[in-house]
Amino acid sequence: MQSTKRDTPRPVRLKDYKPHAYTIDKVDLKVSLHTRQTRVAASLHVKRNPLSVVEGGPLHLDGELLQLEHISLDRAPLSRASYRVTDSELVIDRVPSAPFTLDLVTIVDPEANKALQGLYRSRGIYCTQCEAQGFRRITYFLDRPDVLARYTVRIEADAEEAPVLLSNGNLVERGMLDRGRRAYAVWKDPFPKPAYLFALVGGDLSSISSTFRTMSGREIDLRIYLEHGKESRAHWAMDALKRAMRWDEKRFGREYDLDHFKIVAVSDFNMGAMENKGLNIFNDRLILASRETATDTIFEAIESVVAHEYFHNWTGNRITCRDWFQLCLKEGLTVFRDQEFSGDERSATVQRISDVRQLRALQFSEDAGPLAHPVRPETYIEINNFYTATVYEKGAELVRMIATLLGAKDFRAGMDLYFERHDGQAATVEDFIACFEEASGRDLKQFMTWYRQAGTPQLLCSFAYDKARKSAELKVEQVLPPTPGETRKKPLHIPLRLGLISPSGREIEVLRDDGTTVRDGVLEVTERSHVFRFRDIPSRPVPSLLRGFSAPVNLSIDLSDRDLEFLIATDGDLFNRWQAANTYAMRTLVALVRSLTAGKRSTRGGAYARAIEASLRDRKLEPSYRAEMLRLPTEADVARELAHDVDPLLIHRAHRQLARLIANTVGPTLERLYDEMTGHGPFSPDAASAGRRALRNTVLTMLSMRGGKADHTRLAQHYSAATNMTDQAHSLNLLCHIGTPDTAAAVAHFYDCWKDDHVVIDTWFAAQAQAPIDTTVALVRDLTVHPLYAMTSPNKVRALIGAFALNNPVQFNRPDGAGYSLVVDQVLALDPINPQIAARMLASFRSWRSLEAHRQQQARKALQRVARVPSLSRDVYEIVTRILEG
Ligand code: PHE
Ligand code: ZN
Repeated sequence: MQSTKRDTPRPVRLKDYKPHAYTIDKVDLKVSLHTRQTRVAASLHVKRNPLSVVEGGPLHLDGELLQLEHISLDRAPLSRASYRVTDSELVIDRVPSAPFTLDLVTIVDPEANKALQGLYRSRGIYCTQCEAQGFRRITYFLDRPDVLARYTVRIEADAEEAPVLLSNGNLVERGMLDRGRRAYAVWKDPFPKPAYLFALVGGDLSSISSTFRTMSGREIDLRIYLEHGKESRAHWAMDALKRAMRWDEKRFGREYDLDHFKIVAVSDFNMGAMENKGLNIFNDRLILASRETATDTIFEAIESVVAHEYFHNWTGNRITCRDWFQLCLKEGLTVFRDQEFSGDERSATVQRISDVRQLRALQFSEDAGPLAHPVRPETYIEINNFYTATVYEKGAELVRMIATLLGAKDFRAGMDLYFERHDGQAATVEDFIACFEEASGRDLKQFMTWYRQAGTPQLLCSFAYDKARKSAELKVEQVLPPTPGETRKKPLHIPLRLGLISPSGREIEVLRDDGTTVRDGVLEVTERSHVFRFRDIPSRPVPSLLRGFSAPVNLSIDLSDRDLEFLIATDGDLFNRWQAANTYAMRTLVALVRSLTAGKRSTRGGAYARAIEASLRDRKLEPSYRAEMLRLPTEADVARELAHDVDPLLIHRAHRQLARLIANTVGPTLERLYDEMTGHGPFSPDAASAGRRALRNTVLTMLSMRGGKADHTRLAQHYSAATNMTDQAHSLNLLCHIGTPDTAAAVAHFYDCWKDDHVVIDTWFAAQAQAPIDTTVALVRDLTVHPLYAMTSPNKVRALIGAFALNNPVQFNRPDGAGYSLVVDQVLALDPINPQIAARMLASFRSWRSLEAHRQQQARKALQRVARVPSLSRDVYEIVTRILEG
């Protein structure tokens, strides 16, 4: 073996955390914006950190891609011999033991910045992204979240190019210089904050504004900045913001703290949005919405992300993270808060169903493969690789379990204590948990294991009824599958919500054998093996387990098809009624795959269709809920369920077969629903109207899969008659997915309609990338050189490459390896440009070990091609290493 030239990047470890010897408590920035040479003059007030136990020593400041032009300490320029500059640091050997001021001038190149971290330009707008470690690309700094400083920022720019100049906090002054040629503005943020929450924007932007009166009667000025001409598309986001502000007051007693709240929409952004103090920056696809341009899914996502970023003001900003290992402290908690908000604004049950679907799709698959990691990881090479479904979505589930275990009142008391005790601090998960222990008097020591241990627990349950004794027994065994680097696992503290349903469909009061009632139906599983006994049960009930998905586990219990049909018809817990339907569908799909594998024909599926038919017709159930009842598990869900020897093509066939069987079995019901849900009134994005569209579109999917002539006609008409993007995009996707004589015309038509809209056109790229047909790989390659495509735009990469790798299992996993080659080529081309996005695309290989042997072989070859490249970014290096080794 040849040894590689590359220095193996060094992992960072939680156990090595210590406070820095120095801290910076005041920052004065003067930023003069220029496309290629932006000048940043930073004045940093540095002092010994009172929390540090070590003596001062040399001062190491983080810094990357900076050109240092000037450095002085307490006004005296430093000699060239007294400091060192490397690729990642500025080191000053001797600094005073008393507080001092360090003045730095650095030059950065925003135009060349395509990694989109630090200061960059997006369609001509100057903007910043500093989480997690972008501030070090603006000036040398102690770029870590436990260094909190007060910022004053003066921005100067060409008045025509950037008349709007924004930063965090309050506007102190603004004006013109150089006879009106340059504009300037001074902003001051009174709240100490970590550097990752710093933001600056400059550009020729339009805006819409509104006001909000807080619960204590303060009037807040709200403003959304965006491209000229798109103002009308920001009203939904503004509306969502106000609802979120009100909700946080009502639900958590949290009031906004500055006089202004600003949101800026930019096109090129690595993530969804960023919670910078008082100046959130958003990916414009999560701000812009109108009937014509945005699907209901986007309307919903805007509402939830606007709320999420706003909620960070308390959970993330006022109380931040001590170090990046604590990321879930702000993210898991804030996702929990946005989920609760969406549930209150919409249907709580449907919200829970879609959150659970998403958790299983993204987090369970992560947890089941080589990229599995704990909600609080203990080591990382590149922190950007840990903005994951595990940290976010499983992190939210852990908070939800605490709420379930404690009950609403004690949970709220714990949150109040957390806000009170840690306001203004950089905290840890332990700090957070301690607040709930104190507020409730409960011991959460075992619960902490959830934060430290990766993997999805399996709960193997069996239920037995004793007719003579009129008692029942529930056996629960927790099995904790090994994950990379962690084979022996500790048992977890699991809240298991249950109900028992009598044969007549009544809810039975659940009495433990000691005579106590089960509080809120929640049992607590703490041992590896646990037996719960119940008494006074007159006849054999059907258990309804894990109600509301009370813990992020894989639960299995051998209920018969009859039992599932019973639950689908009677379970008063609507989440579990859906869960029963979903289990039944999955059971049917797995059976269909097994028959196909054995080369046999199976016609299973009719019973399932009939079992859900009554729910579909039940007018007492909301349309959005009925849509969930009809929606099948995805092909990826089936692959995850099978776990081994996966052949995506067989799953695809089984999936189509079931859809067809459903349409054949309950066709008339579906046709009637389709007509009944056809809207006539004016468009409204509210949850009820969106639910009707969702049901109609889900029905359309089933009927189109049937593939009769009339079905194709209906689909084509659905596309051409669409008066909103929900219907238009849904039918375009379906046309591409199924492939009908009308597909090509619709694709061409959609392009003509939307080629001038850089947000909407992403739907066109994605629809084509998702077509499960053999020509897709070649088409995607062609589209990578399409004039509207750009590798420098993360949204474009996600729409084309991401959609292909994640939503086209058949073509991504082609037996000839062409799908893998395509993605690897793109990852390698992207890595030098935007390593964060390259690493994310590569992570789409994370389930490769569950494939059948031949495809595994092909995937391994593709991954090894990445691993052999000598100059990989830390981001891609870490992912490829973990994926191959794990
Ligand atoms: N902190 C952001 C959020 O969850 C996500 C983000 C992370 C954005 C890193 C940019 C960079 O709201
Ligand atoms: Zn967040």
